[in-house]
Amino acid sequence: MTTTPRDSAFVRACRGLPAPHTPVWFMRQAGRSLPEYRKIREGIGMLDSCRRPDLVTEITLQPVRRHGVDAAILFSDIVVPLAAAGVSLDIVAGTGPVIASPIRSAADLAQLGRPVDVGFVGEAVRLLVAELGPTPLIGFAGAPFTLASYLIEGGPSKNYLRTKAMMYGDPDLWHELLGRLATITLEFLRVQAAAGVSAVQLFDSWAGALSQADYRRFVLPHSAAVLSGLAEFDIPRIHFGVGTSVLLGAMGEAGADVVGVDWRTPLSTATHQIGPDRAVQGNLDPAVLFAPWPAVEAEALRVLAEGRAAPGHVFNLGHGVLPDTDPDVLTRLVDLIHRS
Ligand code: CP3
Repeated sequence: MTTTPRDSAFVRACRGLPAPHTPVWFMRQAGRSLPEYRKIREGIGMLDSCRRPDLVTEITLQPVRRHGVDAAILFSDIVVPLAAAGVSLDIVAGTGPVIASPIRSAADLAQLGRPVDVGFVGEAVRLLVAELGPTPLIGFAGAPFTLASYLIEGGPSKNYLRTKAMMYGDPDLWHELLGRLATITLEFLRVQAAAGVSAVQLFDSWAGALSQADYRRFVLPHSAAVLSGLAEFDIPRIHFGVGTSVLLGAMGEAGADVVGVDWRTPLSTATHQIGPDRAVQGNLDPAVLFAPWPAVEAEALRVLAEGRAAPGHVFNLGHGVLPDTDPDVLTRLVDLIHRS
């Protein structure tokens, strides 16, 4: 039996150590697929809920109770530290983060101070660690590139035109912006690590928009600064993005212990690219959960089999749980992974 988060199946798999079963959790497990989440969020804005440790604790625990997943992920958002650093923004339901005055010039950088008053995050983590007992809690933050894309575009984007225009057109400003974002991200993660999270995930969700050469030149040094800045805490660092098949090796080199893989790349191929020193996380297509159960089961077993090529495998989806997902399918999937 597991007694502490440090010897949980999840942390062991992250470290490439033998585990009693393949651990499983889901990106976006805390959220709109759960009726109990929709109920508790009624009438409370997304950013406000992230700032209330009592709500954060309850929402984070909901999927652990319901599905029996092997890890909890802190309920928050990647833009929470940006708001704390002074950026005026909102999280709009159905859209995502919207920035009041996008950052497009050196003068616009004045919006970005240090993250102040993020004490609510540390408090939520401490409450959760006490409630969770042996179940590990994953902390997280957005990586500099993904945060920059929201700040520069002003909201979600398809082609990242303004982001790339700054990257190629004004590399000095670009590196100044990403450097500041790395500082903010690291500070936000250090608050979580100091309060007791058992692992962290750095979400570079939109890094897949870049070639490997551009990723290495414009992004990797900043993400590496974040990941290396956490070394002293001795907790596994997971590094994830979508559409990153050509970036997997570089995302590992940035200083990850575990590389998160979306559904486009088989985990056996991913392991080959990442190398034998790092575990993998993923990678069932979240859309598969809308197919009849025999198809879900077959795809999940394929992912499990391909994951055996890696030194450690944390089962997850290839991206977040989609809002219309039937939560009972998630519970059944957890059960299948634990039995297989
Ligand atoms: O994984 C979890 O369960 C923890 C909570 C979590 C949220 N956001 C809660 C949330 C995590 C890890 C995030 C990270 C996040 N936020 C990312 C990286 C992960 C990824 O999906 O690639 C990104 C890109 C964001 C930005 C963001 N915030 C988006 C794209 C959205 C969805 C917009 C929408 O409504 O479709 C949000 C809002 C958000 N963050 C919600 C939740 C539960 C939905 C808000 C609501 O319930 O009203």
